[in-house]
Amino acid sequence: MTSITLRRHLTDAGHDSDLIFLLEDIASACRATAYEVRNGPLKGNLGVAGSTNVQGEDQKPLDIIANDIFLATCANSPRLAALVSEEIEEVVWLKEPKKGDYLLFFDPLDGSSNLDTNLSVGTIFSIMQVAEDGDRNVLRPGSDQLVAGYALYGPATMMVLAAGKGVQSFTLHQGSGIFRLTHADMKIPEGTAEFSINASRQRFWEPPMRAYVDDCLAGKDGPRGVDFNMRWVASMVAEVHRILMRGGVFLYPLDEKNRDMGGRLRLLYEVAPMAKIIEAAGGAASTGRERIMDLVPTEPHQRVPAILGASDEVWRVEAKHAATP
Ligand code: F6P
Repeated sequence: MTSITLRRHLTDAGHDSDLIFLLEDIASACRATAYEVRNGPLKGNLGVAGSTNVQGEDQKPLDIIANDIFLATCANSPRLAALVSEEIEEVVWLKEPKKGDYLLFFDPLDGSSNLDTNLSVGTIFSIMQVAEDGDRNVLRPGSDQLVAGYALYGPATMMVLAAGKGVQSFTLHQGSGIFRLTHADMKIPEGTAEFSINASRQRFWEPPMRAYVDDCLAGKDGPRGVDFNMRWVASMVAEVHRILMRGGVFLYPLDEKNRDMGGRLRLLYEVAPMAKIIEAAGGAASTGRERIMDLVPTEPHQRVPAILGASDEVWRVEAKHAATP
């Protein structure tokens, strides 16, 4: 095992030491979460917790456990000013914010409906910096992100980071607990005929989304001239990881059922971090009408439509929207 460690990578990249400490705390929280996820059935932590989160969704015991792990681990970072979690309604302020302090946005356990069936789940996170002393604004566009990342609790536990240049993936070595670089400078392959959407919602889709998917489904004889494959894991972390590894596009569009909420997925701690990672790997991320990274949130738990992946596919979806205003 010769590949370099997460710390060595971050140090070589010249990051501020306080940012490295925070990223190491996040890595520790992901390691502890991976441990709890793997032992979930043995510790009686599957099923529902009997509580709901700010979005009114049923919380799983592991949603709460992972959230507590992140709070307890990351709150130690001396320059972390605030946390915004999917599981907590209010912003958690840890100190009086000073210019350059960090803001951490996270979804402690994304795709947690997969837990009971022992399928992949993940953690998504994003770091921004306080703009001025005393500035408590957390409603900032994705383009303000300093770092975006996720951990995937799959057959192997991996942490994928867009911090500085490019996108790197680190795999957790189960014996030592060390994350080591296994995939350097990840790039989304273009021209892959694979899309990812919850097709059970087809009857609620808008015309541009129907048109895009119809073109894909028409296969070799249709306008795309190629047979498409389809996948739906119901865990955005797993879908995005597959796209980084072998291309394709992930679609959670606006539809008649989620229109009143603005979409399905949360902007600040789900879609914006994934958009930063996807763009850093050469892809694109859009609502279908606007670039995700340019959106300025109006509230911490805001939802948005999400179209992300290989840029040629994302542009096609945007073109369909532009053609059908
Ligand atoms: O909450 C987010 C999430 O679990 C994503 O990880 C996933 O892509 C999506 O919801 C699954 O949605 P659905 O319930 O429509 O399959």
